[in-house]
Amino acid sequence: NWSMDDFIDLQIEHIRQTVGDKKVLLGLSGGVDSSVVGVLLHKAIGNQLTSIFVDHGLLRKGEVEQVMASLKGKFGLNIIQVDAHERFLTKLAGVSDPEKKRKIIGNEFIQVFNDEATKLDGIDFLAQGTLYTDVIESGTDTAQTIKSHHNVGGLPDDMQFQLIEPLRSLFKDEARELGEKLGMPSDLVWRQPFPGPGLGIRVIGEITQEKLEIVRESDYILRDEIKKAGLDRDIWQYFTVLPGIRSVGVMGDGRTYDYTVGIRAVTSIDGMTADFTHIPWDVLSHISTRIVNECDHVNRIVYDVTSKPPSTIEWE
Ligand code: XMP
Repeated sequence: NWSMDDFIDLQIEHIRQTVGDKKVLLGLSGGVDSSVVGVLLHKAIGNQLTSIFVDHGLLRKGEVEQVMASLKGKFGLNIIQVDAHERFLTKLAGVSDPEKKRKIIGNEFIQVFNDEATKLDGIDFLAQGTLYTDVIESGTDTAQTIKSHHNVGGLPDDMQFQLIEPLRSLFKDEARELGEKLGMPSDLVWRQPFPGPGLGIRVIGEITQEKLEIVRESDYILRDEIKKAGLDRDIWQYFTVLPGIRSVGVMGDGRTYDYTVGIRAVTSIDGMTADFTHIPWDVLSHISTRIVNECDHVNRIVYDVTSKPPSTIEWE
């Protein structure tokens, strides 16, 4: 019978054999998957692992601080934090196609990696938090590709690393179970999934600093209220999106012409299919009021009531 303890032992053994006395580089994205890979690898090979946490400017509010405190502070991972947000935003300027944005973010991510790896000297392996779902959805057949998940595709041809992907056979809930078995704190393990391209695919169309701020702040408010309502474990994934449309509103005596923020919340097992969550009206109402009051240039909130299929979870 398949057990997580066996899986851990097998993976650790496998990682040690594969790596030998060589060095591994890991890209921490701030999400559950790469964090779990980090802790697993650290357990297997200790300081032969160097992690790079790229702040691409598309992370959630408070994310960098939280990940550093936990993985570096508590688990003792060797983490290099790179502030690359200007680099990403410059490359993304004027780009509105979702797949192009993903490719740019994915490629830039690898570029930042290569730059750091060159400084590090003697890195042979690149570890990634690829899940089974990523493998399926990215597909090997381009006709089947739904979205190019950047942690699977988009690597440059001249990439000089060999890949290590210990979660490749796991679904999300299994990755979480693995994290718990490894002693990771539940607030880290039970974080909702967060896509590699981050807030970059939650600003629909062209990304600007102003739009990013609105998504980041409204997402923070949503997460805060969902947690206060005790729903954070029941909802699989929840976030705000900025469709980029503006509409007419009224505030005080004046007419406004400001952005609409969309709220997305889904219940799912593995992200392959999903139902929109029936968040209680009073909770939604509270969220709506807070976002409009606390985020500049927002005058309307809409709730996404479609499931997957026919929609995807993300809007891009
Ligand atoms: P969709 O939107 O395809 O999302 O229904 C399914 C799950 O995958 C996440 N997602 C991504 N994760 N890179 C990632 O690492 C991506 O480009 C990407 N696109 C979607 C999404 O957040 C959801 O959990």
